[in-house]
Amino acid sequence: MSVFDHGEFSEHEDVIYCHDRATGLRAIIAIHDTTLGPALGGLRMWPYASDDEALTDVLRLSRGMTYKAAMAGLNQGGGKAVIIGDPRSDKSPELFQSFGRFVEQLGGRYITAEDVGTSVADLGLVAGVTDHVAGLAALSGDPSPATAWGVYHGIRAAVAHRLQRPTLEGVKVAVQGVGHVGYYLCQYLAEAGAQLTVTDIDAKAMEQMADKWGANTVHPDSIYEAKVDVFAPCAMGAVINDETLPRLQANIVAGSANNQLSQAHHGESLAAQKILYAPDYVINAGGIINISHERPVYDEVKAYAHTAQIHDTLIDLFRKANAAQMAPEKMADKMAEARIFNARQQQNSVAA
Ligand SMILES: NC(=O)c1ccc[n+]([C@@H]2O[C@H](COP(=O)([O-])OP(=O)(O)OC[C@H]3O[C@@H](n4cnc5c(N)ncnc54)[C@H](O)[C@@H]3O)[C@@H](O)[C@H]2O)c1
Repeated sequence: MSVFDHGEFSEHEDVIYCHDRATGLRAIIAIHDTTLGPALGGLRMWPYASDDEALTDVLRLSRGMTYKAAMAGLNQGGGKAVIIGDPRSDKSPELFQSFGRFVEQLGGRYITAEDVGTSVADLGLVAGVTDHVAGLAALSGDPSPATAWGVYHGIRAAVAHRLQRPTLEGVKVAVQGVGHVGYYLCQYLAEAGAQLTVTDIDAKAMEQMADKWGANTVHPDSIYEAKVDVFAPCAMGAVINDETLPRLQANIVAGSANNQLSQAHHGESLAAQKILYAPDYVINAGGIINISHERPVYDEVKAYAHTAQIHDTLIDLFRKANAAQMAPEKMADKMAEARIFNARQQQNSVAA
């Protein structure tokens, strides 16, 4: 099938297939849109079952990055890269250096970063051959605390809007997944007086949250039925689906996981159940907002203040969605597209 006919193709500017016989590198870089600035997006390494599966992932994820940057108010575009390979067995310094040379050839149109299956150390190898790398240890480092900070402020906004509660004191939140983001999110929520219910397939990580913050723990399969105000997915995608929707007890879904809706219509289903959904790419933008403050010298105070604005962005979005009788994720798409359209019009009028 042609890339242009692919179901996830969305007028991407560039799709670059990278192959290096010497290192065994097989990678795809997708640059979705650079209207607002260079395309930023992580490098994922995954043992995809087929090239088509890798293409589907990179097309979908790069488009998501365009929308995320647009809604976060950043002058950045959307891109993503995938290396086809098993991160447990197929990594080598030469592989990442080879990938870096492909990034370098793009002359800054694509900026790469850490993602699923790659580490800050891997990206350090990429940075040996190109400057177009973000989130390195010497710059802003692990984005997870900033992502959690944004999700925390997003939950505050959703609680204010849906429950008319001005603080999180006594608000019940169920956190699914207490990994890099979930760990810090639990800390911010507990410090704000929220009552936590947590789950994780890693029982040790879950017990740690119970000891530290007095959280209730539940089996991973039972988290959807938790009688809480907020369900915060912070593990994997597609958790809002036909099977989980009838089980949800929460009034709000607001968490860090990417692609929380299994299918687009599940957003409408949440709205029909009067569950307020904080669109994933809006609430989880703290990581890229943080990265946008790393040059020339990382400024953590500014980065965190900027990240906290996710609260105001969501309040504005919820109000507009209400006024238009539209599901929030549809309104978010509309707002992001409007920002890009206006920027393109301006660029065209300057060029004319
Ligand atoms: N790290 C970031 O800055 C960032 C930014 C944007 C979006 N995200 C998204 O947020 C989510 C979490 O990211 P992370 O960096 O914390 O990942 P992570 O791998 O550090 O943590 C995920 C946690 O979820 C747990 N988990 C996996 N399957 C589970 C299940 N079925 N039930 C319960 N727990 C389960 C894992 O054991 C792990 O502790 C991901 O979807 C990621 O794509 C992360």
